Amino acid sequence: MVLGIGELTTNAPEAVGVDPVDDPTGVVRDAALLLDGGRVAWAGPESACAAGVEEVLGRAPDRVVEVEGRAVLPGFVDAHTHLVFAGDRAAEFEARMAGRPYEAGGIRSTVAATRAASDDALRAGLARHLDEAARQGTTTVEVKSGYGLTVADEERSVRLAREVTPEVTFLGAHVVPAEYAGRADEYVDLVCGDMLAACAPHARWVDVFCETGAFTPEQSRRVLEAGAAAGLGVRLHAGQLGPGEGVRLAVELGAAAVDHCTYLTDDDVAALAGSWTDAGSATGGTSPGATSRGGTRPDRTRPDGTRPDGTTGTVATLLPGVEFSTRQPYPDARRLLDAGAVVALASDCNPGSSYTSSMPLCVALAVREMRMTVAEAVWSATAGGALALRRDDVGHLAPGARADVVLLDAPSRTHLAYRPGVPHVAAVWQDGVRVP
Ligand code: NIG
Ligand code: FE
Repeated sequence: MVLGIGELTTNAPEAVGVDPVDDPTGVVRDAALLLDGGRVAWAGPESACAAGVEEVLGRAPDRVVEVEGRAVLPGFVDAHTHLVFAGDRAAEFEARMAGRPYEAGGIRSTVAATRAASDDALRAGLARHLDEAARQGTTTVEVKSGYGLTVADEERSVRLAREVTPEVTFLGAHVVPAEYAGRADEYVDLVCGDMLAACAPHARWVDVFCETGAFTPEQSRRVLEAGAAAGLGVRLHAGQLGPGEGVRLAVELGAAAVDHCTYLTDDDVAALAGSWTDAGSATGGTSPGATSRGGTRPDRTRPDGTRPDGTTGTVATLLPGVEFSTRQPYPDARRLLDAGAVVALASDCNPGSSYTSSMPLCVALAVREMRMTVAEAVWSATAGGALALRRDDVGHLAPGARADVVLLDAPSRTHLAYRPGVPHVAAVWQDGVRVP
């Protein structure tokens, strides 16, 4: 495999996510992959690669990397993190493991630490966590604000996030900060007014924590509509601690994703599934790599190859690190998939509810605890995450995709779940460049 001009991968028994030939899960055995100029130039069975490479490159590749029976897959797309923060909450985690419940209010202690931190301390934390994620195979990351909760601190958070990723989400409506206690609507005025104006230039998305103890559906709607009017795409936290109206609000507003989805009613499940088959509505932010039709790839929206042509739906992004770290019941991915919803997996990396950057851990938990097949879980952690960000350039290895590649030190993707906790990632290429 891989870098620069015309480098070729040979002998990979699996390349997950290349355009399906016969196998609808997108696995090509004994595959080869050609990367050229930061893009996938050709992918397919090794037996066809000499002719394929000659056709697209017109000459032999500059370098051949033999991967010797190991599996290659697209870089993970982690479409939900909160990486602009300072401090940690290990004591809160310890108390929780001793029986205390998780509460949204814990967010405020990270807000205090984040406000007190320098720009450079926040940058260093971001770099450390992104590096940690990259070494575990994550090549695309969404980063939210939400631990500043003043105009200046939120603006700083999205600005610093924008230094490391185009997938920046303004989450000024994370919780009501202590200084606005009892005045939530006034805080929402601030979020929709000066805070949004300061943050929108740095962000692609707007998000709200729609939950008891955070923001009501009415307050959430105000923030999301204001964000959309400012040109941001919509996403939402909902159904983490109990059922509510957030999921249906997300679908109604054409959100790219609604995240957590631990507690869902039958109506929520039907709305999520229907969003992919009903005539599509969409708000989507703009960024390099976003597709004009909002990122739907009808040929790869579901692992079973179903093709809901031309519609753009709301992805249910499940975050199993949260249930692991808060001892909540896991979301039922099977129920969503069987209903026809599109599921993504993400880490939700944050110091409170899910302090892990590991997408392999999320895959293993999804398979073991959420009734997903291995193929579904890997798809959801790659192509599903891309759909949740309305991107069609990442999350797969078809020709034209960004050259974001993970080489596993294992013969198949199954080992991600079969051998949990083992460091499987042998090498990562991001944009065709080997991550050190
Ligand atoms: O996605 N649910 C809201 N926000 C985060 C938790 C943040 C925290 O506890 O600090 C989440 O789980
Ligand atoms: Fe979150």
